[in-house]
Amino acid sequence: MKRVKILDKEFEVSIPAEQIQAAITRISKQMDEDLKGKNVIFMGILNGAFMFASDIFKQIELDCRITFLKLASYDGVRTSGKLKRLIGLNEDISDATVVILEDIVDTGNTIVDIMKQLNGYEPKEIKIATLLLKPSVYKKDIPVDYVGIEIPNEFIVGFGLDYDGYGRNLPDIYTLIK
Ligand code: IMP
Ligand code: MG
Repeated sequence: MKRVKILDKEFEVSIPAEQIQAAITRISKQMDEDLKGKNVIFMGILNGAFMFASDIFKQIELDCRITFLKLASYDGVRTSGKLKRLIGLNEDISDATVVILEDIVDTGNTIVDIMKQLNGYEPKEIKIATLLLKPSVYKKDIPVDYVGIEIPNEFIVGFGLDYDGYGRNLPDIYTLIK
């Protein structure tokens, strides 16, 4: 198996690029079918989801929009380290079917945070698509509508996902070995 060293850690390929692309093709087709006729806007969550969002969007045949959002920590006096503000939304989504594009859903805290804030804009509905899901960790009530690949509770990098900012450029996904 191909290995790579990133900063102080070693990783080994666990999901080859072809398997990633097959998953993306499958969920793109499913979305084309499910969301036909709707006013769809995809929302890629930066930074991690940029590759996933790009590859999904190349395959989607719906007439639809895409935008990218980022969760930014509040700066200033209140140091509630957990609350993150959603930035970058300039589109009117009041009549739209929003499809959140995430790289990975782990605990689900991020997705809950995003849903809460997006609901304030009163879209028609919100769907969630994630390339990766850790089912043994995710215990929230919100259903994840489109899941590319389920993975065990291990730390991974590649295809947009990072270790301390590095490794996002790898076309395959790698798992931490030591
Ligand atoms: P959650 O809020 O616990 O669901 O985590 C979601 C975010 O944590 C993702 O969008 C990733 O940025 C990051 N994350 C979770 N698991 C991993 C991993 O295995 N490798 C790299 N980033 C991860
Ligand atoms: Mg992310």
